[in-house]
Amino acid sequence: MTQIKTDFLIIGSGIAGLTFALKVAEFGHVALVTKKGIMDSNTSQAQGGIASVFGELDSFDLHIQDTLASGDGLCNRDVVEMVVKNGPGRIRELIDLGVHFNLKDKKLSDSESPDSELDLGREGGHSQKRIVHAHDMTGREVEKVLVDHVKNNDRITLFENHMAIDLITISTRMKRGIITTTHEDYCCGAYVLDRETSHVKTFCAKITLLATGGAGKVYLYTSNPDIATGDGIAMGYRAGATVANLEFVQFHPTCLFHPDAKNFLISEALRGEGAILLDSSGSPFMEKYDTQKDLACRDVVARAIDTELKKSGADSVFLDISNKNSDFIKERFPNLYKKCLTFGFDMTQEPIPVVPAAHYMCGGIATDMFGRTDLHRLYAIGETACTGLHGANRLASNSLIEALVYSHMAAQQAVKDIKTSDFTATPDPPPWDEVGTTDSDEVIMVSQNWDEIRRFMWNYVGIVRSNKRLERAQRRIEIIQKEIREYYWDFRVSPDLIELRNIAMVAELIIKCAGYRKESRGLHHNIGYPYRDDMHWQKDTILRRSFMG
Ligand code: SIN
Repeated sequence: MTQIKTDFLIIGSGIAGLTFALKVAEFGHVALVTKKGIMDSNTSQAQGGIASVFGELDSFDLHIQDTLASGDGLCNRDVVEMVVKNGPGRIRELIDLGVHFNLKDKKLSDSESPDSELDLGREGGHSQKRIVHAHDMTGREVEKVLVDHVKNNDRITLFENHMAIDLITISTRMKRGIITTTHEDYCCGAYVLDRETSHVKTFCAKITLLATGGAGKVYLYTSNPDIATGDGIAMGYRAGATVANLEFVQFHPTCLFHPDAKNFLISEALRGEGAILLDSSGSPFMEKYDTQKDLACRDVVARAIDTELKKSGADSVFLDISNKNSDFIKERFPNLYKKCLTFGFDMTQEPIPVVPAAHYMCGGIATDMFGRTDLHRLYAIGETACTGLHGANRLASNSLIEALVYSHMAAQQAVKDIKTSDFTATPDPPPWDEVGTTDSDEVIMVSQNWDEIRRFMWNYVGIVRSNKRLERAQRRIEIIQKEIREYYWDFRVSPDLIELRNIAMVAELIIKCAGYRKESRGLHHNIGYPYRDDMHWQKDTILRRSFMG
C-alpha cells in the first residue's frame, strides 16, 4: 500500500489548481494530482479570454452590473464585487509570470505599464470591451506559463496519470472508500488510482483542494474535452460537501457542426467582432429574441438557436464573419481560421455551420468567499465550485477571472489554516480495500450506461426542459445508479468506471436540482413553468447527501 503525506493535495491541473499550487508552495509541500497529462484541462481549451476592467470607458460598476444582469437575479453581489475588483491585479500577476496577452500595438510588449495597452475583446452580455486575450488561444497561453512555473518548483510534486477516486474523511471506514457518516467530519486526503500501475494510492493531506473543472461530458454534445466528467463535484458530494445550483448548465451557442469536429468551439469573440447568426435560409434571426441581438447573454442565444432549429428542422444555424476584412480575421482568430479550414470551411469567405453544446457548469460545490466548502479542510475552486459569482447564467469569460481570484483567496486562507491548526490528531486513513473484487467481465455495462446517460441528459435535461422529461430522466438515472453501485462493489476500479460513476452522480444532481426549481430562470428553462418567479425561487438550490439509512 502506498501512502503519500503532504500539506496541500491539489486535484486538477487547470488555471485554478496550478495558480493555487504556486501560491501555497512557499508554505508547505504540495502534491498535484491530475488524471491525464498536466496540460489536459478545460483551461487549455479556453479560447475567448479573461473578463476584467482595463478599458478607458469601463468601470468596476459596469462589469458588476453586466455580471448581475447575466446571472438573472441569483448572483451573490458581495462575491461579484470581490471578483470584479480583484480581477485586474490577478491579471497583472499573470503578466508578471510571463503570460503574453495581445496588446493594442504589438510593439508595446515591453512597455512599463502594459495593462493600459491590453487589446480588449467583447463578448455576449458585456456592455464594454473587457476581454483580455491571447489571440483565440488564451487558455493555452496561460496554462503553458503556469505549467512551466509548476514544473520548476521543487516544492510541488506532480502526479500525472493519477485519477482521484474518492475523498477520504475521518469517517471513511468501509471497503473501497465508501464514506459512512459525517458527524464532526473533515477531509484528510483522497484515494487515487495510478493509471500506469493500476494501484490505488492513499494521499494524506492537511488541506485538500478540488479544482477538477466542469462536467460537459454528462451531455452528448459538449465543447469540453474528454476529461470534463464532473469528478470534483461528484467526489465532494459523496464526501458530504454541499452542492448548489446544478440545474444551471450553460450551453455555448456556437460549436462547429461537422461529423468529425469533436467538441470544437467557435468562440463568442467572433460575435464580439461582428459575426452574425443566420438561419438555414441565410437570414439573421437574433433581433427577434433580444435587443442585444447576437451579443445577447448566452442563455438567450442558445435558446433562440434551439427554437430556430426545432422550427425549421435544420441540422444547424450559421455564423457569418465574412463581412470582416480577411487579414483581420486571420490575425485575430488564427487557430479558429486554420481549424475551420481543415473541416472545409473558409470563415473569411462563407458562413460556418454551428449548434449549441454543453459548455459550463454554473453550479458546483458550494463555497464561501475563500473557496472553503462546508466539509472542513476541503476547498473547491474554478468550475468545480459554486461561489455565487455566476448565479443562473455565467457572463462570458468570467470563469477564468473567477478561478484566478479564488485561487488567490483560497491560497491565503489555506496558508492561514496550515499555520494555525493542529493536525497532529488526524488518524491515518484506512488503506484502500479491494478484498473480494475481481477484474470486470462485463465492461459493456460501463459503455452502455455512459452512452445512455449522455443521450437522455441531452434530450431530457438540455436547453429546454419539461416536467415530463425530467421525470423520465429521473427514472432512468435511478436504474443506472443501482447498476453502477452493484458493479462498483464487485469489480476492481478502472478509469472508465470512475468516470462513469462521476458522470452518473452529477447527472443525478442536475436532474434533482432541475426538478426542484419550479420556474424558468437563466439557463434553466422548464416549459411547465415558463416564467421567473422571484417571490418563491430567488434562492439557490442546495443539495447535501443524506447519510441516513
Ligand atoms: C468563448 O470563447 O466563446 C468561450 C468563453 C467562455 O466560455 O467564457
